[in-house]
Amino acid sequence: MTDIHTARIEPFLTAAPVVPVVTVETPTQGIGLARALVAGGLPSVEVTLRTSGAMKALEAIAHEVPKARVGAGTVMSRMQAEDAVAAGAKFLVSPGATDSLLAACEDLPIPMLPGAATASEIMRLHEAGYRRLKFFPAGPAGGPAMLKAWGPPIADVKFCPTGGVSLDNATEYLSLPNVLCVGGSWVAPGDAVSAGDWARIEALAKQAAALSA
Ligand code: 3PG
Repeated sequence: MTDIHTARIEPFLTAAPVVPVVTVETPTQGIGLARALVAGGLPSVEVTLRTSGAMKALEAIAHEVPKARVGAGTVMSRMQAEDAVAAGAKFLVSPGATDSLLAACEDLPIPMLPGAATASEIMRLHEAGYRRLKFFPAGPAGGPAMLKAWGPPIADVKFCPTGGVSLDNATEYLSLPNVLCVGGSWVAPGDAVSAGDWARIEALAKQAAALSA
């Protein structure tokens, strides 16, 4: 039986092998970037709530780029989660999890991908009903070897490793049975976003979309 959290978040994690983790300052940047990522074959986009303009950019993407499945990343509080829903986010991502954030998410109409980096954190989220988690920060926390070790004892949890994932190591993650997709910022480098170099980002997205296990 597929549990409710899994059914709601999984479409965002299986649309492509990579979920771009993007940092943008303005609606114009957000729209250009989202169009390039979608054109390159990466429809799920995580907009990190790390800049003062992030929420407005997310809102602009939600309205102007309907083919993008835009989510909010770096969600740390109930208020951010609620604001992201109001801005049109389709999913939420957090670097970790707290009781109050999880309680807030139970009341929201969109799914959450909470982060975990240890067996105990995974078990706590498992108890709360979550079977699809962000493994963050994937590289520093143990990389593919850690995910491999979690496979047998934590058999029904699958991950989106994020943090230190790149074109060079993505395949190593994607080949693991408990990995659904990877997250990463390498497809939207800051200098290309600042310069509005959407052709470069579309090319990076195409390369990422072609990754497979
Ligand atoms: C983040 O939240 O910053 C993501 O983990 C992106 O990490 P990366 O820049 O190493 O891809």
